[in-house]
Amino acid sequence: MALALGTTAGRSLKGRVQVPGDKSISHRSLLFGAIAEGTTTIEGLLPAEDPLSTAACLRAMGVKVSAIETGQVVQVEGVGLDGFQEPESVLDCGNSGTTMRLMLGLLAGRTGRHFVMTGDDSLRRRPMKRVGGPLAEMGACIAGRSGGNLAPLAIAGQQLSGQVIRTPVASAQVKSAILLAALTAQGSTTVIEPVQSRDHSERMLRAFGADLTVGGPGNTEVVVTPGRSLTGQNVIVPGDISSAAFWLVAGAITPGADLTVENVGLNPSRTGILDVLEQMGARIEVLNQRDVAGEPVGDLRVTHGPLNAFEIGADLIPRLVDEIPVLSVAACYATGISRVSGAEELRVKETDRLAVMARQLGAMGARIEEFADGMAIHGETPLKGAEVDSETDHRVAMSLAVAAQIATGSTTLHRPEAAAVSYPNFWDDLERLQA
Ligand code: S3P
Repeated sequence: MALALGTTAGRSLKGRVQVPGDKSISHRSLLFGAIAEGTTTIEGLLPAEDPLSTAACLRAMGVKVSAIETGQVVQVEGVGLDGFQEPESVLDCGNSGTTMRLMLGLLAGRTGRHFVMTGDDSLRRRPMKRVGGPLAEMGACIAGRSGGNLAPLAIAGQQLSGQVIRTPVASAQVKSAILLAALTAQGSTTVIEPVQSRDHSERMLRAFGADLTVGGPGNTEVVVTPGRSLTGQNVIVPGDISSAAFWLVAGAITPGADLTVENVGLNPSRTGILDVLEQMGARIEVLNQRDVAGEPVGDLRVTHGPLNAFEIGADLIPRLVDEIPVLSVAACYATGISRVSGAEELRVKETDRLAVMARQLGAMGARIEEFADGMAIHGETPLKGAEVDSETDHRVAMSLAVAAQIATGSTTLHRPEAAAVSYPNFWDDLERLQA
């Protein structure tokens, strides 16, 4: 499929938009609801392909999850910490790394049961040993291609034992998998990260009743002590700041733009994009700040204005890891050279996002130097419409749409349907805000 984004010269962006539910919180609400006792209700769950993959895997193991549709409250009937049935067939995680990695942690300790997980072409290329390695230290038995690194993965459930685990990468997926495995291990488990990654699992597991403490320098140490069962909760999912990021950048770079993104999750472990936009001098206001079900939330208003180049280093990456593609678009319109370093993790996302953004924005005339762990993006480089490709990556698809919004001339985007992984209504919202 290809989408003609046409020429939008002279068309600005105005209005209010509600981005869909946070993807990270959506996965966790389904998974934690499944292993709790009783019913969990989820308001605002992201009705997109990734959470649907999680729900399908849970249903295949005997968990009742109601239909996932826009605007519907979703109900999960928990089966308890050890209640998953052995699935009759392979569990398909689709494009979703979060589904596969968090489920590895949940399934590794299901004694006497056998599970096989796979995913699409992209997911079957992504490294899983980063989760399998620490779980093996706890006694897990996981096999896969490439020495257990690549799916399909086979898991023979074992009784696990608690450990002290230092993760080499700051990854919430790795951390969360270990925390989930720790819930039924013998003895307590400590996870120590190099830098704190997003903490949705910690917040939500505690709300469900887990014995979990967070401490250490910069909240990098999490301790789980098993023994408590989880209790179903009413979860309210805020809008996804990683989806809001497309509108924030589009608003900041489009002359005349004035956009308000409503109900955005503002968890400090996710707001690196706001820090960088502030560093660039973007005009962003945070309005109506409040707390909703344990997560900070607010509305974000953005208007167009001049931008300066940014510097993003390793310490900031975990707080904006998914926003680098769209920030690279903003950098083309800033004054000076923007630099990203310590971002080698981007190479193992849904695509190699450093290479893909350099290639696709390059086709539109961007001047980007690519390095092993980052890139340098030359500003004051107005983009030109071109033929571009999402390369099947949802965040690339939407970043290129933002680029096309102010490029001169028309752009044709191949494989735009990738956006449905995290933001099914993105194209409708774009059309409405351009009107
Ligand atoms: C996620 C964590 C991040 C992020 C992904 C979702 C999560 O990955 O890129 O989109 O929900 O835990 P890493 O934790 O591997 O960096």
